[in-house]
Amino acid sequence: MKKLFLLVIVLFLSFQQVTLAAIGEAANTPDSVFLFSYATSRDDGRSGLRFAWSMDQKHWFAVGQGTGYLRCDYSRWGSQKKMLDPFLKQLPDGGWLCTWKLNTHDGYGQAKSKDLVYWESQKYPQVTSDFEGTRVKVTIDGQEQTGNINRVSWTLVDKLTKHYERNQYRNVLHAERPVQDKERFAGLKPVKATITVQPEETKEISNLLLGIFFEDINYSADGGLYAELIQNRDFEYDPSDREGDKNWNSTHSWKLEGDNATFTINTSDPVHPNNPHYAVLNIQQPGAVLTNAGFDGIALQAGEKYDFSLFGRIPAGHKSNKLQVRLIDSNGTVQGEASITVSSRSWKTYKTVLTAKTAADTHLELQLQSVGEVELDMISLFPQNTFKGRKNGLRADLAQTLADIHPRFVRFPGGCVAHGDGLKNIYQWKNTIGPLEARKSARNLWGYHQSMGLGYYEYFQFCEDIGAEPLPVLAAGVPCQNSACHGDLRGGQQGGIPMSEMPAYIQDILDLIEWANGDARKTKWGKVRAESGHPKPFNLKYIGIGNEDLITDIFEERFTMIFNAIKEKYPEIIVVGTVGPFNEGTDYVEGWKLADKLGIPMVDEHYYQSPGWFLHNQDFYDKYDRSKKTKVYLGEYATHIPGRKANMETALTEALYLTALERNGDVVHMTSYAPLLAKEKHTQWSPDLIYFNNREVKPTTGYYVQKLYGQNAGSHYIPSQIILDNQDNRVKLRIGSSIVRDSKTGDVIVKLVNLLPVSVETEIQLPGIGSVQPSAVRTVLAGAPESTPLPVTDTIEVGANFKQQLPAYSFTVIRLKTK
Ligand code: AHR
Repeated sequence: MKKLFLLVIVLFLSFQQVTLAAIGEAANTPDSVFLFSYATSRDDGRSGLRFAWSMDQKHWFAVGQGTGYLRCDYSRWGSQKKMLDPFLKQLPDGGWLCTWKLNTHDGYGQAKSKDLVYWESQKYPQVTSDFEGTRVKVTIDGQEQTGNINRVSWTLVDKLTKHYERNQYRNVLHAERPVQDKERFAGLKPVKATITVQPEETKEISNLLLGIFFEDINYSADGGLYAELIQNRDFEYDPSDREGDKNWNSTHSWKLEGDNATFTINTSDPVHPNNPHYAVLNIQQPGAVLTNAGFDGIALQAGEKYDFSLFGRIPAGHKSNKLQVRLIDSNGTVQGEASITVSSRSWKTYKTVLTAKTAADTHLELQLQSVGEVELDMISLFPQNTFKGRKNGLRADLAQTLADIHPRFVRFPGGCVAHGDGLKNIYQWKNTIGPLEARKSARNLWGYHQSMGLGYYEYFQFCEDIGAEPLPVLAAGVPCQNSACHGDLRGGQQGGIPMSEMPAYIQDILDLIEWANGDARKTKWGKVRAESGHPKPFNLKYIGIGNEDLITDIFEERFTMIFNAIKEKYPEIIVVGTVGPFNEGTDYVEGWKLADKLGIPMVDEHYYQSPGWFLHNQDFYDKYDRSKKTKVYLGEYATHIPGRKANMETALTEALYLTALERNGDVVHMTSYAPLLAKEKHTQWSPDLIYFNNREVKPTTGYYVQKLYGQNAGSHYIPSQIILDNQDNRVKLRIGSSIVRDSKTGDVIVKLVNLLPVSVETEIQLPGIGSVQPSAVRTVLAGAPESTPLPVTDTIEVGANFKQQLPAYSFTVIRLKTK
C-alpha cells in the first residue's frame, strides 16, 4: 500500500514537473527529433507499435517506457493478434500511416493517425506497397530492435509521453481496491452524511433501466435454462464444435451395451434435412441397452412427471421393437420406468411419461427387447414442471430466479454467440423456430453445441411470461471481431457477408420483425408465429444490430444498409447499434461517430472493469452530451477483480455504479450485467451473476444487487444533495445514493451505498415528496469485501426526516410509501 501511495505522489509530482517543464522547455527543447517505430519480435508484435526518440540517431530513448501505442486487432484473441515488421510513414497531409504484416498468409494491416495516439479503424487484410521501406536496427535499453525512422516535432514526442503518463496515473486510480482501505483510511471515524432531496429537480428516467442479458455461454441454454435433460438428443454434436475434438461427435453422451450390438450414425434419410444425423442400432441379443448420460447426469425431482419422446423407425426386413425406458440411479435402482414400441417403417414420434420415485441423480437407459435394427432420433426427456408449465420450456427454478430480478427486458441470444465465429457461424434466427426436429443446431463459439431447442420462440415466450421487453440481437452482417482467420476471409473476422447476399440477410431481419409483430392471418411470418402457438403479436419494440464489432468500413456499410432498411419498413422499431467492446478507443469513438451520423436511437456499450475504474468513473454519463439523440444501452458490464470472483467487493462496486446509472436514467435507457448464467464445471467466463448445477441455483451477491434494483426501479429520479462531515474526496467517492419515485405505486425508494470501512450515519431529509407513511421496508446487504452475504429485510420507522446508519461496506434500500 505504501508503494501505491508513493507511486501516486511520484506521478503527481512528475505531472507538476511536466507542467513546469512545459513553461520553460520551449527554450531548451529541440524543434524536432528522430522517431524510431518498431514492434518487438519476441512477442510477434502483440504488445503493439512502440516508439523511441533520438537527437543523433545513436542514443535512443524509449517513449512511454516502451509502451504499445497501436495494437493489431486482427483475428482471434491472444496469439493471433500480431503486428509483424510495422512500417510508419508520414502522409502528405501530415498524418501517419502504419502498415504491418498480419501473419505469414493474410497480407497486411493498416491504420492511420493524426497524432500517433488516437488511431482510426484498422483495415485488413490490405494488399499494399506501403509496407516497403528501409528498416534499420537500433539499440534501446540494451536491446536491438528493428524498425524505421521518421523526423518529427518534439511536441509530438512530448504528447506521446504525456499520454503514457496520464494512463499510468489512471492505472493507479483504477487499481484502488478495498483491500488497501486499512491503510488508505487508517484512523477514519464514522462519517456523517445529510442527504436532502430536491424534488423540484425531479426528472423522468427510463422505465427499462434494469434488464438481463442472456447468452448461451457457460452451458446457459442446453444443460441449463433449457429444461431438456438428454444431452445430444439429436446426434448432431460435431468435432468442429470443439476445434476438431474427435470425442465430441454424434455419439457423444450415448453408449450401447449388448452382445454384438452395434450403434452407428447414419445421415442417408433423416427426420429432417436440418437434422441429418440419426442413430442406427443393430441388436443381436434382446436386452441391449442404449444409455444417455444427460448433462452431468439427470436430476429427478421426487414425484414429478417427465415426458419421454423420440422419433423412431424400423427399416424394411426388421420387426418392431419394444423399448423399456428407465431412469437409473448410481446404485442401479430404477427411479422411473415406461415403455414404447417402435413399429413404423417411416419416422414417427413415440411418447410416454415417466414418474420419478425419488429425487435421484440418474441416467437414461433404453433397453431393446427384440433383435433387429431400429433407427432413432430426437430422444428427449423433459420435465412437465417447466417455468409456467410451457411445453419445450425452461427449467423452473432457474427461470424463476431470473424472473425475480423483475427485468424490464431480455437481450438474447448473445454476445459473441449472436454474430458468431466467422460468417458461417452467424446466429440465424429462422433456424431456431418451428418443430424441434426441423431446427438447425449449430456450433457454439464457446466450445460446445447449441441444439436451438431454446430458440427465438422460447425467448419471446419467456419475455412475455415475465413481462419483459424482448431485445433480440442480430449480427450486423459481420462476424465476431475475434473470429479466427485462416486465410479464408469469408469465414474470418473481417469477411463481411458478401454484398450479393446482403439483401437476403436484410430480408431475414425484416422477417423477424414481421414474425414477432405481423398479423397472424395477413402476413407470411405472422402466420408462422401463429402456427407455433402464438397468434397474438409479441409486440417487439427493440432490435439490436451488431455486438461490440470492429467499426470498420465493412461493418459500417452493412450496418447502414440494415439500419436504413429497418427504418424504412418499420420506423417504429428502435434499433440498438454497437460501439465496440470498451468504454474508449477506436471502436467506441468511431461507433459513436456513426451513431451521430445515422441518428441511431440507441447504442450498446460494453465494459468489464476493475472496482477502481467504476469508482472513478461514476460521472461517466453525467458528462454525456444531452443534446445527442442517441440513448445508451449498457448491455454488458461487470466488475472484475483478480481471480475473477464475485463477492461483496464486486457487488458493492456495481451497486455504487448503479446509483450513477439511475441518476443518468434520462440518457442510459437500459443496463444488463454480463454474463448471466454459468453451469458449474462448464464455465468459460467468470464472474457470472448466477451459478448453478443440476439441482441448485446459486445466485452471487451481485445477483441480489441486480434484484434490489430491478424490484425497486423508479420512473422518476429525485436529485439530492449530500453533505458530508468529511471532505476527503476518497471518502466522498465511496458513498453513493439514489432516490427514485415509482409513479405507479407512488413509492419513493432510497438506495444508499457505503463502500467505506466505517459506518456512515445518514440523515435523510425528504421535504416536498408528499406525506411519508411511518413504516418502510428496508433491505440491507452488508459484509466484508471478500464475503458473500445475503440481503436482510425488515421494517423500519421513517418520516419526512429520518436517520439511517449505513454499516461499513453495505448497500441499503428503503422503500417508503407516500400518500
Ligand atoms: O459476456 C461475455 C462476452 O463478452 C460476450 O459474448 C461478448 O459480447 C463480450 O465480449
